[in-house]
Amino acid sequence: MQMDSVESAGGRLGAVLSSPRSGVVALGPHGPWLTTTPGLARQVLTDVSGFDFPGDVTRSGDLSGSRGDTRSGHVTFQPVQPDQVWRGVAVFTTEWEAALSTHDRSSPHEPYDAMVLLRRPVARSTTSAVLPSLDLEQRDLVADLVLDWIDALAPVIAARRPPRRWSRIRRTERDARVALYAALAATPDLDVPPQLTATLLAAGIQVPIAAGSWLLAWLASQPTAELDPVHVVWETLRLTPPTWITARITTREMDLGGQRVPAGDVVLVSPLLLGRQPDLVPGDPAGVPGFDPGRWQDDTQRPGAWLPFGAGPHACPGRHLGMAVLTRLAEWGLSLDLSLSERVTVDQSRGIAPLPCRFTISDGREPAR
Ligand code: HEM
Repeated sequence: MQMDSVESAGGRLGAVLSSPRSGVVALGPHGPWLTTTPGLARQVLTDVSGFDFPGDVTRSGDLSGSRGDTRSGHVTFQPVQPDQVWRGVAVFTTEWEAALSTHDRSSPHEPYDAMVLLRRPVARSTTSAVLPSLDLEQRDLVADLVLDWIDALAPVIAARRPPRRWSRIRRTERDARVALYAALAATPDLDVPPQLTATLLAAGIQVPIAAGSWLLAWLASQPTAELDPVHVVWETLRLTPPTWITARITTREMDLGGQRVPAGDVVLVSPLLLGRQPDLVPGDPAGVPGFDPGRWQDDTQRPGAWLPFGAGPHACPGRHLGMAVLTRLAEWGLSLDLSLSERVTVDQSRGIAPLPCRFTISDGREPAR
């Protein structure tokens, strides 16, 4: 059982991957513009006065929760601190075991579905890390409401055009968002507006679920003897970074590597494209598209140079938590022999996610739990 390659996925992904790697390229007659070198990508992500966010996550134009001074009203988030990371990983470990046991009890003959199985462990882990003062009942309620909001947002984000204000998917999304804001407003010690906490939680839950699913898909599709879990995480984030592309809008005419980009144009940065640049990846350039965590034993290249967590003031504030949870998941996966039970395809409706991502534990060893 195999995985479809990102290279063969087509759609926007295919258009970006097949573009020339010549600095800045226009993907259409009037953009969007794609940066194809780490230097230019960094320029776009770090110069926030010249390259602003395109809008808010709900595509509603409602920026009332924002306190920022950029045109989009985007704010910066405090990085997740080491004690929060520690708490998040501890909760993930417990909740992952619980999710596996629940599956084994309720559907013992069914394969595990990574995108489903990871939901509650990741949601509760991130919620515990971000909101330490919640008791377990409140935490589980908030975690479930974030998952509801993420689900309700999916069709809004996937729609080709922003859905109309009173459309069903817009109303469903608004109801889920309002329910989450209300639960957050009722939590003790919330020192930032519920809107910002909701954004932090949603980003910190949706992306790691996809990343963790990719990681399990890779482990279930390859021999994994002798691999280092941290190398597995970096290699997953190199080949299949869930946030495979991010956009900014030029606030004025900008010079990007000698290319004039007009004000108001979209400029794209793709960690997935950069992760396939041979000069950022150790080993034989011909092997760059292949999953080979062992390549990171060669420390001549720094993992992460392809920006899987972004860069600049809006780089991911949860990266240490994300890395730690994924490393824990890799340790679990490497202690077993996982096999894919269905072919994995690349879902591009929101970032990238492996769909379906169903696997079995296929050898006679006892699960390490
Ligand atoms: C494997 C895990 C993760 C990956 C790969 C990841 C990736 C990213 C990337 C690439 C960005 C930058 C997007 C851009 O520049 O437009 C980002 C931003 C963000 N991430 Fe993460 N992330 C992960 C985990 C988390 C976690 C655990 C949290 C929260 C606890 C989180 C919260 C956020 C937030 C709030 C932003 C927006 C920052 C801003 O706009 O200032 N992420 N993430």
